[in-house]
Amino acid sequence: MQEHQLVLILDFGGQYNQLIARRVREHNVYCEVKSYKTPLAEIKAMNPIGIIFTGGPGSVYEADSPKCDSGVFELGVPVLGICYGCQLMAAVLGGEVTPAVNDSAREYGKTATVYDTGCLLFKGLPTEGVSWMSHGDYMAKLPDGFKLAAHSAACPNVAIADASRGFYGVQFHPEVNHTENGSAMLRNFLYEICHAEGDWTMEDFKKRSIAAIREKVGDGQVLLALSGGVDSSVAAALLAEAVGQQLTCVFVDHGLLRKNEGDEVEAAFARWDINFVRVDAGARFLGKLSGVSDPETKRKIIGEEFIRVFEEESHKIGRVDYLVQGTIYPDVIESGLGDAAVIKSHHNVGGLPEYVDFKEIIEPLRQLFKDEVRQLGRELELPEYIVMRQPFPGPGLAIRIIGDITEPKLAILREADFIFRDEIANAGLDSAMNQYFAVLTNMRSVGVMGDGRTYDYTLALRSVTTTDFMTADWARIPYDVLDRVSVRIVNEVPHINRVVYDITSKPPATIEWE
Ligand code: XMP
Repeated sequence: MQEHQLVLILDFGGQYNQLIARRVREHNVYCEVKSYKTPLAEIKAMNPIGIIFTGGPGSVYEADSPKCDSGVFELGVPVLGICYGCQLMAAVLGGEVTPAVNDSAREYGKTATVYDTGCLLFKGLPTEGVSWMSHGDYMAKLPDGFKLAAHSAACPNVAIADASRGFYGVQFHPEVNHTENGSAMLRNFLYEICHAEGDWTMEDFKKRSIAAIREKVGDGQVLLALSGGVDSSVAAALLAEAVGQQLTCVFVDHGLLRKNEGDEVEAAFARWDINFVRVDAGARFLGKLSGVSDPETKRKIIGEEFIRVFEEESHKIGRVDYLVQGTIYPDVIESGLGDAAVIKSHHNVGGLPEYVDFKEIIEPLRQLFKDEVRQLGRELELPEYIVMRQPFPGPGLAIRIIGDITEPKLAILREADFIFRDEIANAGLDSAMNQYFAVLTNMRSVGVMGDGRTYDYTLALRSVTTTDFMTADWARIPYDVLDRVSVRIVNEVPHINRVVYDITSKPPATIEWE
């Protein structure tokens, strides 16, 4: 029996495919993103209550443009086509799509749009609003049975609808925030047209996952490498709730964590009766890193050492039946869709040795987006400082100390980074930026403190806003906040006499300095 209703998102290579999926899930409807090449039999077997076609870079009249099996229109299931998806629907069902003959019919950006609120897709919404367009093609003739449902000054058929068959198409992107009421339009598709029940909640997911994990694991032993990041922490909490004593979490503290971080991670798991192994391997890692200043060499040493430590610990545990990994849905989409695949440049230090002997891998978060993982963490009563933790690189502070790494430099950086985070939190800005941290440069300069000359380190502050971490902009932190951070750092942290703020976007810079 199917556990919950499902909406299928057929991906035609659009840049917003994940965004559409997240929007659907925000409305408590489960959805999955699959390639447009998915065979009809597989689609049928998924038993979707609705199908959404994404946008894509192709033009439907080009011979090699992506096309799905036209049998999807025979399933009796509502379809919403977005942008390319809309044009594809029109073309397959007997309409005509051509290149826009003149520039005025080609639309890009924010566009004033008039909606027919008699159409279920726009039910209850204002008749006028801004929509986000990016299309160069034009629907010269609508397929039989379709009516116009929205227009703009340049384009008569911004939205089309065949209510009797439940087929809807929009030339704009309702999933993008620039489209006013876009989220409400998707909601209308889900609830008014597909008759969704809204049965996707994290509370329910938690209950079902725990039952499924218990059934799978039986009396087996489970091993999990805990990094303290959001994904591995939430996976650990879920397993802890499900199998308690049968779970061993190995938390390798490589001595390159931020202030208090190791203790915070340990404290978060204190309320579960699990085997929690904290390996304090700081001295071991620092020994290996001694005198090393090349960033890639640092990464390599830390990665290898991490695996070695983890392997030693798992051998001490003895029998391991299941290994848990914190894979989340964006990783699944990126590795599975082929055409739009993005290969990640960084692999987490949590990358595990192949030679730990186990029966099977459990990936309990495979279906979840990051915001859902956080929500699940809250359901499991993980503290907010874990649930909302910003990304932290596996090699930790090692790549935030330029040049060689020593214990005194780590101590300086930990204090300065802590003050920066503290002041950002005091200013209520922590959710306004996606990653922020301090970097200890290897540069010293002259300063004056009291009556004396100093010759100390320059500390750099870095803060970025980003959605995907592939590109990023530097955060516009108010001057008075920067001022407080700078004053506190030079007063409270010995050996820093200068603070600078990094105002470079990515590209051309990267987020981390190494
Ligand atoms: P960059 O510096 O490449 O960083 O713009 C993008 C994102 O990746 C994180 N990062 C890493 N994560 N191991 C990791 O697990 C690494 O070696 C590593 N290097 C960078 C970085 O913090 C940012 O979120």
